[in-house]
Amino acid sequence: MEKVAIGLLPPLRFIAAIAVVSWTSFIYYHFSLLSGGLLQLGHGRDDSADPCRGRYIYVHDLPRRFNADILRDCRKTSDHWPDMCGFVSNAGLGRPLVDRAGGGVLSGEAGWYGTHQFALDAIFHNRMKQYECLTNHSAVADAVFVPFYAGFDFVRYHWGYDNATRDAASVDLTQWLMRQPEWGRMGGRDHFLVAGRTGWDFRRDTNINPDWGTNLLVMPGGRDMSVLVLESSLLHGSDYAVPYPTYFHPRSDADVFRWQDRVRGMQRRWLMSFVGAPRPDDASNIRAQIIAQCNASSACSQLGCAFGSSQCHSPGNIMRLFQKSTFCLQPPGDSYTRRSVFDSMVAGCIPVFFHTATAYRQYTWHLPRDHAAYSVFIPDRDVRAGNVNIEATLRAIPAAAVERMREEVIRLIPAVIYADPRSKLETVKDAFDVAVEGIIDRVDMARGGYGRSWLRPKQSSHQALDAKRRKLI
Ligand SMILES: *[C@@H]1O[C@H](CO)[C@@H](O)[C@H](O)[C@H]1NC(C)=O
Ligand SMILES: *[C@@H]1O[C@H](CO)[C@@H](O)[C@H](O)[C@H]1NC(C)=O
Ligand SMILES: *[C@@H]1O[C@H](CO)[C@@H](O)[C@H](O)[C@H]1NC(C)=O
Repeated sequence: MEKVAIGLLPPLRFIAAIAVVSWTSFIYYHFSLLSGGLLQLGHGRDDSADPCRGRYIYVHDLPRRFNADILRDCRKTSDHWPDMCGFVSNAGLGRPLVDRAGGGVLSGEAGWYGTHQFALDAIFHNRMKQYECLTNHSAVADAVFVPFYAGFDFVRYHWGYDNATRDAASVDLTQWLMRQPEWGRMGGRDHFLVAGRTGWDFRRDTNINPDWGTNLLVMPGGRDMSVLVLESSLLHGSDYAVPYPTYFHPRSDADVFRWQDRVRGMQRRWLMSFVGAPRPDDASNIRAQIIAQCNASSACSQLGCAFGSSQCHSPGNIMRLFQKSTFCLQPPGDSYTRRSVFDSMVAGCIPVFFHTATAYRQYTWHLPRDHAAYSVFIPDRDVRAGNVNIEATLRAIPAAAVERMREEVIRLIPAVIYADPRSKLETVKDAFDVAVEGIIDRVDMARGGYGRSWLRPKQSSHQALDAKRRKLI
């Protein structure tokens, strides 16, 4: 704790500098409102008591063909995404889990759902309806949310359709947006949407496979907005990574605290565990080595999916294993990132990464800059070359250090989960809250500001300060 507190105190000079800069951007911001003739609207004025100042979001009222109708067609995708209708039920959370084996701990009652990893479009949109600083006056909004279901749109036409069909909704959407008065203000740079898959799925032009995905993030309009994805391409600057949805969607602060206490108290009988399938077609993928090392160690446990069964798709099995493990091995799969990273963190299991693009370079809003505080890094080339024994590496970490890392992982749980969008956490910030702050800051910087997180009432939290430091240093 002490170390954290000291590390967070910015030098005075630094504070003075941001005060000056912020004041300047504050004046600039108000001037732009005045010149827009919007004073009579009330908020956005120098009303320092307004807790929403700097955080207003306007949600575009899109025609249903851009969201609700896409879900209505969920049956059409049944050959490629089985049970999509089930997966988009309950505000996008999926079906409640029924956990007989675990005494109901992982059940819908306790906030657990069979959430699909690519269901964020709907979860985020529904969560936005609970956002405390929505406004109907687009002119005073600090950012504009576009509730287009880009990820579900991808699934609809991915297999067996031509480019024009795959891009049709994206073209339609961007043309619709560019006709709205809101677009003109900043050429779309204050707009954002959620495309709940990896960024690669929306950049067909620059893909290795020219038949993969839509071109949403490349086309005019699409490339001007900020887009929240599960994995950023890290190249282009307008797609930002946010956590994959996990199975846990608490309804209150108390649900979160209860869960944190539970995982803190778990007996962890496995030193390490792995859940995932090998990638036999990709010779450079290290999963085969991970699976072999795990299989050879009496301190490692893995689910049967490594050997071709579907055991690894049962949320209950996965979460029970992670809760009993100290370290969870997270090698890349088809892309760098994995949903499993967040499932393991929710279980209080310390992630072991093999590539910096699996988390460190991705989730900079949600995870601390100090990687060693919550995770272990073993370079994939060492595993590939057979130079490293994973078990021995993990055993060499002193018990006190393991304890500290686990505590940090448990502290991070709120930032990597999406609360049940039908209710609202009281004080705890979830992954949605953190993402919205990130976007508001990006938009402010695009306006010539320096990020507005310093204005926010909840800014004294470790998270916000950490994010601010990351951005400004
Ligand atoms: C915006 O307008 C709608 C419809 O009139 C209303 O239901 C809603 O409460 C308004 N939202 C805000 C944030 O004022
Ligand atoms: C589809 O689009 C990609 C680029 O986005 C292009 O390389 C490819 O040739 C197109 N496919 C067809 C069949 O036109
Ligand atoms: C796992 O280990 C057993 C012996 O301990 C061996 O027979 C089996 O082939 C191994 N499987 C894999 C996939 O490495």
